[in-house]
Amino acid sequence: MTKPLYERPTLVRHQMGMMNKFGRAQAMQPLESIDGVSVDELVKTYGSPLFVFSEADLVARYRELHDLLALRYRKIRIAWSYKTNYLDAICKVFHREGAYAEVVSEFEYDKAMRMGIDPTHVHFNGPLKSEATLERVLPAGTVIHIDHFDEMAAAERVAERQGIRPKVAVRVNMAVESVPPWSRFGFNLESGQAMEAIRRLIAGDKLELAGVHCHLGTFITDPAAYKQAAAKLAHLANTLRSEHGVLLEFIDVGGGFASHNTLKAQYLPGEQATPSFSRYVEALTEGLSQLDCDPRDLPTLVLENGRALVDDAGYLVSTVVANKRLRDGRRGLVVDAGVNTLFTSFWYNHDVVSAQPFRGIPEPTVIYGPLCMNIDVVRDTLVFPAMSVGDRLVLKNVGAYNVTQWMQFITYRPAVVMVGRDGKHGLIRRREQLEDIVGPEEVPDWL
Ligand SMILES: Cc1ncc(COP(=O)(O)O)c(C=O)c1O
Repeated sequence: MTKPLYERPTLVRHQMGMMNKFGRAQAMQPLESIDGVSVDELVKTYGSPLFVFSEADLVARYRELHDLLALRYRKIRIAWSYKTNYLDAICKVFHREGAYAEVVSEFEYDKAMRMGIDPTHVHFNGPLKSEATLERVLPAGTVIHIDHFDEMAAAERVAERQGIRPKVAVRVNMAVESVPPWSRFGFNLESGQAMEAIRRLIAGDKLELAGVHCHLGTFITDPAAYKQAAAKLAHLANTLRSEHGVLLEFIDVGGGFASHNTLKAQYLPGEQATPSFSRYVEALTEGLSQLDCDPRDLPTLVLENGRALVDDAGYLVSTVVANKRLRDGRRGLVVDAGVNTLFTSFWYNHDVVSAQPFRGIPEPTVIYGPLCMNIDVVRDTLVFPAMSVGDRLVLKNVGAYNVTQWMQFITYRPAVVMVGRDGKHGLIRRREQLEDIVGPEEVPDWL
């Protein structure tokens, strides 16, 4: 006869806010495998903590967005936002599906070139493009999105020196309801600054205006914002055609769609609250219906999504290091991944699940990392079952911004793997080693 497993008793004080709106504690299903590969096997092979990406999810999200766009608009382009996750393997999945690259720095541009992307398939955004960078990218045919007058003048100087007439876009910012304005990037539409910039560009006659661009912001949960933005860009395009005879090649509406994550201030979980791609696409194309031109002259609709394509495809596996009872009675769960690895835990309540079947009564728990700093809280107070040292947790929807914004701090950044659609898996970034970190260091002779 096997001895029954000892289960330590737990006293749980009734507390407000620990249940969902139906008065029930949130149910949790363990996630023992990712796309058919066991979490246990992944950790045994690659270590813990570990980022895991699902190729199937990346492809499915991309195709869903692409196909919905293609249903409603004839000329479309998705430019993968490198800053969201520029690991070669992730970019490769999207480029293989036909995505262009959207970059915001020379480093990201170099990464795209290294991957063999056609320079004419790159949209170059951001407020810093040095004249030396422009000397490189403009003759290669990369479209820069001009952010300010100084950049316009620099691009004109480069065009003159090189004897070229490069295609450029003008980035605009605008007010739309329900989205705090990102007014620092590009030229403001409502004040007339955007039109002034465009007139200046046309009068300069050294650059060819190919597009207009607006990135409203990020994690925008109101599709109506896109309808307004697209309509405003359509009106701008109409004015350019009627007053200046300029036919735009593209209208770029940026990125910003929400993933299925849950913002800290959000009431309903992302799984319920995040609008579907079809609602964003519907809003965008309704806005673009304001375009007044021959259907053959329709500009290409460009999207630069990042978060919504990659976030849900990423998981972080972490291992329980210790159990603690905190002074206020909550359980503390110490895990081997901190906020330096999971930067997005500052603004999301990431969904956390056990990677193995669990027993015992769920109770209020704080999950924190190894940084030895008070800010290192991966998940503040959720109702979670008892875990033992060595058990594994999986944090969901972590694919966006973490493996670019993570910080090397007191430890090595973990390995990143991809699980393929055929069940294969492999490293897409190995765990850091001491040499990766101390390599660039010097100690001057005089010290
Ligand atoms: C210009 C530009 N385009 C696209 C994106 C991607 O945004 P998101 O990840 O919210 O889709 C960003 C991110 O800030 C951006 O700055």
